[in-house]
Amino acid sequence: MMQTLDDPAALREALGDRGSAGSVAFVPTMGNLHEGHLALVREARRRAETVVVSIFVNPLQFGPNEDLESYPRTLEADRQALDRVGADFLFAPSAEVIYPTPLEQQTRVVVPGISDVHCGASRPGHFTGVATVVCKLFNMVQPDIAVFGKKDYQQLLVIRRMVRDLAMPVEIIGVDTVREPDGLAMSSRNQYLNEDQRRIAPRLYATLQEGRNRILRGAADWESLAREMAAGLDGAGLRTDYVAVVDADTLLAPTPESDRLVILAAAWLGRARLIDNIEVDLTERESTGAS
Ligand code: PAF
Repeated sequence: MMQTLDDPAALREALGDRGSAGSVAFVPTMGNLHEGHLALVREARRRAETVVVSIFVNPLQFGPNEDLESYPRTLEADRQALDRVGADFLFAPSAEVIYPTPLEQQTRVVVPGISDVHCGASRPGHFTGVATVVCKLFNMVQPDIAVFGKKDYQQLLVIRRMVRDLAMPVEIIGVDTVREPDGLAMSSRNQYLNEDQRRIAPRLYATLQEGRNRILRGAADWESLAREMAAGLDGAGLRTDYVAVVDADTLLAPTPESDRLVILAAAWLGRARLIDNIEVDLTERESTGAS
């Protein structure tokens, strides 16, 4: 039976009671759990003795005009889902526990460069908010492993960089995006879509797949490819925030040495800002052919 705790000291005591032999895997979330989150918990379950999941809607990663207030909060349903997939602990701290200092004076973890491009350019301060809360949660849970979804590809790289730069003793695992049957990446924000918008939403992933196919067939003008993909999305009824074809490790423009790319995209549909991405392994590229 899963235990729910809101106090970090109580969590650490409970983890200590389980003995020091096994490893602890941690899945940080903002709740409103769907199959994408549960896939992370299942991966954590496969990798460690003890699985801790946190639910905390982090004010520091929301911009002033974003959906902090309306972000869906479904703690009871989340608790039942986590119990079913075999999590051992749900850590659901209050904002006072996470941020004892007023937010403006809160110590922050800044991961420069990689936090400032793509989603970071559209949402200034977002990745500082993410890195700060993940660092604090790591300090509270003290996991051996932490599991993140690849849907938030840039977030995963920001966390990896933070862990490496600050020598945090946590192994970071990325898990593939879980999709609806029509390809739409699962996200809590999909519920902001009305029926018409929901019909259009799968175009985002379809466009990424088309982009990947064009690269594999030889397209190499990354900027025009991104522009054409953005125009395609706009034509389909989305409002493109950005499309970027970049090196999968640096998130910068591909160089002749890049052998793995990622196409990142964000687009608005009504009040939902959808993000998605697709990885492209250039070693799978056909040797001849055109885009
Ligand atoms: O991916 C999320 O749900 C959040 O950004 C995270 C990692 C839980 C930090 O608040």
